[in-house]
Amino acid sequence: MPSTNPQPVAAPLTRAAMFLVVTMNDGTDHDETVKGLTADLSGLLRSVGFRDSDSRLSCIMGFGSDAWDRLFGAPRPKELHPFREIQGQHHAPATPGDLFFHIRAQRMDMCFELATQIMTRLGGAVATADEVHGFKYFDDRDLLGFVDGTENPVDQDAVAATVIGEEDSAFAGGSYVIVQKYLHDLKGWNAVPVEQQEGFVGRTKLSDIELDDATKPSFAHNTLTVIEENGQELKIVRANMPFGEVGKGEYGTYFCGYTSSPRKVELMLENMFVGKPPGNYDRLLDFSRAVTGTLFFVPSATFLDEVAAAPAPAAVAESAAEQLQAATTDGSLGIGSLKKDAEQET
Ligand code: HEM
Repeated sequence: MPSTNPQPVAAPLTRAAMFLVVTMNDGTDHDETVKGLTADLSGLLRSVGFRDSDSRLSCIMGFGSDAWDRLFGAPRPKELHPFREIQGQHHAPATPGDLFFHIRAQRMDMCFELATQIMTRLGGAVATADEVHGFKYFDDRDLLGFVDGTENPVDQDAVAATVIGEEDSAFAGGSYVIVQKYLHDLKGWNAVPVEQQEGFVGRTKLSDIELDDATKPSFAHNTLTVIEENGQELKIVRANMPFGEVGKGEYGTYFCGYTSSPRKVELMLENMFVGKPPGNYDRLLDFSRAVTGTLFFVPSATFLDEVAAAPAPAAVAESAAEQLQAATTDGSLGIGSLKKDAEQET
């Protein structure tokens, strides 16, 4: 029976977050390491999280398309595929990533500790493709100065927007997430008059009120990202965080969009990067460059717990060969060799 107990994809924003994207190194023993960590993740989370339960530590784990095939094979989630690069008025690149960890808490030290425990377990099985430490900036503002997250659905609406149901019943309780790292040209942005910035976003800067339809340009960010199907708005849940390194002049937004179907985010991206109609693109992109882009499947929490770190296929083949050899040399069915193993263990 598929589980419908999702990972905490619809959880509200926290003060701190870490986004870790890693690639898996070649080797079947590495597959087993990853599976072992997957099954033990909830235990690690309890160990670290219990040290300060008020900090609301949580961790979401996702799998890229190739990693899913390598680790779990068939059946696979219906809409799992690699991130689709977009070359429009601006470029949304596709970048490598097999596993995704989204660690959130009210305190960065809790995130850091859990990330350390995870990466220690994974050891040489993975290489880090990207690591971002996000922070809450005043009243949930991005580094462009606008409040980010206001129109996110909450409670049951958030669950409905993000969690797979009957449309892919074998993976009910799962979700998809698309992540992109954006770097801002803050100097250029700050040279734009506030009123014009408000037109680009579609909301007022200080008070975060949506512009009325008469004032809002057709290329406003919140016009291009509001999408509908059969007269119904298709929602996602964004867990974006600001990040940066002042000394390097790096100021960014980590976009993290959870959704029940990647199609919704892909449509928003198409509207932003190509434009709706084509050419009428999102002006935020004149000041925000996407430098990464990856899509992951986020299985249900129960799926993670039930992942069995089965013996690697090579190990199974080896022991079968050993037993066959024992059978041909002593005429038995290899029970002698099993007995030997048992004796050695005692
Ligand atoms: C540079 C990156 C981005 C920045 C700084 C940014 C910022 C914002 C801000 C300030 C708002 C208005 C407040 C709110 O409702 O949250 C907003 C709304 C929204 N953004 Fe973004 N965003 C970025 C990228 C994206 C991307 C890549 C997507 C989807 C592919 C997206 C989807 C949305 C949606 C769906 C809304 C809500 C629209 C509504 O219902 O009014 N954003 N974003």
